[in-house]
Amino acid sequence: MRLDKLLADRGYGTRKEIKKLLQKNSAIINGVPTKDGSAKVVVDDRVEFLGDVISCESMIYYLFHKPAGCVCANEDALHPTIFHYIPNPRNQLFSVGRLDIDTEGLLLITNDGVLAHNLLSPRHHVDKVYYARLDHAITEADIQAFQAGLDIGDDTNTMPADLSPANEAGDEIYVTIKEGRYHQVKRMFEARGNAVCYLKRMSMGPFVLDDTLPAGSYRPLTPEEMELLSDYTNQSEES
Ligand code: URA
Repeated sequence: MRLDKLLADRGYGTRKEIKKLLQKNSAIINGVPTKDGSAKVVVDDRVEFLGDVISCESMIYYLFHKPAGCVCANEDALHPTIFHYIPNPRNQLFSVGRLDIDTEGLLLITNDGVLAHNLLSPRHHVDKVYYARLDHAITEADIQAFQAGLDIGDDTNTMPADLSPANEAGDEIYVTIKEGRYHQVKRMFEARGNAVCYLKRMSMGPFVLDDTLPAGSYRPLTPEEMELLSDYTNQSEES
């Protein structure tokens, strides 16, 4: 791949911006400084730019249906990790955010730190939709309290969240949050005197868990999803 494309993929700017940056700051490929954006780099090259060491691996994007019982970590002494299900030969992959050990559902797996940042940053307000089974039915007051923001013991209240019933009894619901605080959904229901018995993430931004992906399996994003990815990332960066 060309050096300027690598730097653009890693979020250093557009190709035009990178051309200008390279005029002032050389990149270093395997110890040799260069200002040539068309210089070729391959996977094992060591590239340094603006004090960063930049991976030349090509970008990987998987959609994973996390089963209950595995942890979102590289290693764990007690439990299988998500990489029990997904090969990670160069240890380059990570999940975009985390789900609790008992939570199921959609996880994006990638080696793209820029995308992960854009999807996770609270500034970007990416909607995450969860299906939850609760100890007991929600009330109209719960819907309003979620909408107003809840005190879950953090420095600030949660941002407005939507609750909508998924069954007639009202003890199965869809909840949409825009943040990703630790145990957020469970703590929000706890703050309302309820409890989450089962939790599954259905979507994150434009990415939706589809019925064809059984728990424990993963697949690369489709070309259509790759389009969404770039659109969404651009929108996020502008907001
Ligand atoms: N909220 C939770 O409480 N747990 C999760 O795994 C995700 C969101």
